Amino acid sequence: MSPTEEGELTASQYDAMAAPYAACNRVNAANAYYERPATKAMLGEVRGARLLEIGCGAGELTDFLVSAGARVTAVDVSAGMLALAREKLGAKAELLQADLHDGLFFLADGEVDLVVASLVLHYLEDWGPVLDEVHRVLRPGGHFVFSTFTPPGTGATTALGTTSRSCR
Ligand SMILES: C[S@@+](CC[C@H](N)C(=O)[O-])C[C@H]1O[C@@H](n2cnc3c(N)ncnc32)[C@H](O)[C@@H]1O
Repeated sequence: MSPTEEGELTASQYDAMAAPYAACNRVNAANAYYERPATKAMLGEVRGARLLEIGCGAGELTDFLVSAGARVTAVDVSAGMLALAREKLGAKAELLQADLHDGLFFLADGEVDLVVASLVLHYLEDWGPVLDEVHRVLRPGGHFVFSTFTPPGTGATTALGTTSRSCR
């Protein structure tokens, strides 16, 4: 998948690429040896944490998070991606089909300790409403960990960041 040079993708476009994306994402160097390890390192200890993953795709990171003892709600707009995640995870995580443009209405204010967004924010034209919702559902002192592609031509492919609920 490439960043949004041609605008946002539709759920059916994500569905169509779900299987090849999942296979590639599991093993390719950028995901398996750079982005995922860095994201895991920024998340730190997740045992017992109530965690929301947005844009979970086929559930590669979700699988790690539940194995590490987090209680995970994982969300994606693509039914195809979620079907692959379900195959992998069964009932070990709560998997929801939802569009981030519609907000995180399924969570109460301050309900989660951690939110993680691995390589999804760059698919959204306007991050503001999603960041507002992430802020709303995080408990005070909770953290938001995200990774995103940087614009083409900048020399890097992926940027990583973390912020706490106190910074917006
Ligand atoms: C590059 S994949 C990353 C998947 C997973 N986080 C990973 O690192 O393997 C981006 C994912 O974001 C999802 N996505 C894109 N736009 C979305 C939206 N508006 N709401 C929810 N999910 C979205 C796509 O369906 C896709 O599964």
